[in-house]
Amino acid sequence: MTYVLGVLGSPREGGNTDMLLDAALEGAAEAGAKVEKVRLGRLNISPCTACDGCADGVRCVLDDDMASLYPKLEEADVIILASPVYFYGVTAQMKAFIDRAQLFWVQKFVLHYRSKKRKGAFISVGARIRTDFAAAEASAQAFFFTLEATPSCKLTFAGFEEKGSIADHPTALSDARLLGKELAQSAGPMRCPVPRRSMGMPIPGLGQNPPGPEPE
Ligand SMILES: Cc1cc2nc3c(=O)[nH]c(=O)nc-3n(C[C@H](O)[C@H](O)[C@H](O)COP(=O)(O)O)c2cc1C
Repeated sequence: MTYVLGVLGSPREGGNTDMLLDAALEGAAEAGAKVEKVRLGRLNISPCTACDGCADGVRCVLDDDMASLYPKLEEADVIILASPVYFYGVTAQMKAFIDRAQLFWVQKFVLHYRSKKRKGAFISVGARIRTDFAAAEASAQAFFFTLEATPSCKLTFAGFEEKGSIADHPTALSDARLLGKELAQSAGPMRCPVPRRSMGMPIPGLGQNPPGPEPE
């Protein structure tokens, strides 16, 4: 059974990113996957200290809640990272989590371990109508590359600030549900239309935002 792990980087529970992630996980569950959601805002995850304690590729020596997430990441067939844009990047909670994947980076790039191929998706929301998702996407993409989850999908929505306002978008939640379903269903590696230049694989028709003027 496909195991889909959703990682919520927003500290605002019930907010826009949370709603989108829930919809994606519901779609995956509908497709028969085993789904699990972790809320980083409830966990104590320290930033990486570059101590080189993971140089042997065995474990991260920092003693916090990340210890319970390493086995989940290893087991996951699909990883969905969901974070709003904060100051052009992912949230601090999500960045600390991503940086702690350094253990997997050492395993892959230093020790040349082989790990299973996974699928990944990045879900994000920003308040500005022309939100620049590039920095947030780049962090997610680096994580997915390290975890063998490339190419990845992305689903981003600009122009949503108030808690729950993503429900006003005509298709956002159904888009997320479809994304989860596709991730859980489609067999084999995903195809990416522009593998080297694209930050992810936009699914045609998904993540479209209505055009509008920038408020500033
Ligand atoms: C600390 C902070 C920084 C933010 N920085 C940005 C930003 O750089 N660009 C942007 O478009 N929105 C920014 N926002 C707005 C959030 O991305 C937006 O409100 C989003 O809908 C929040 O998602 P959530 O409901 O899942 O928490 C910021 C919000 C906060 C609290």
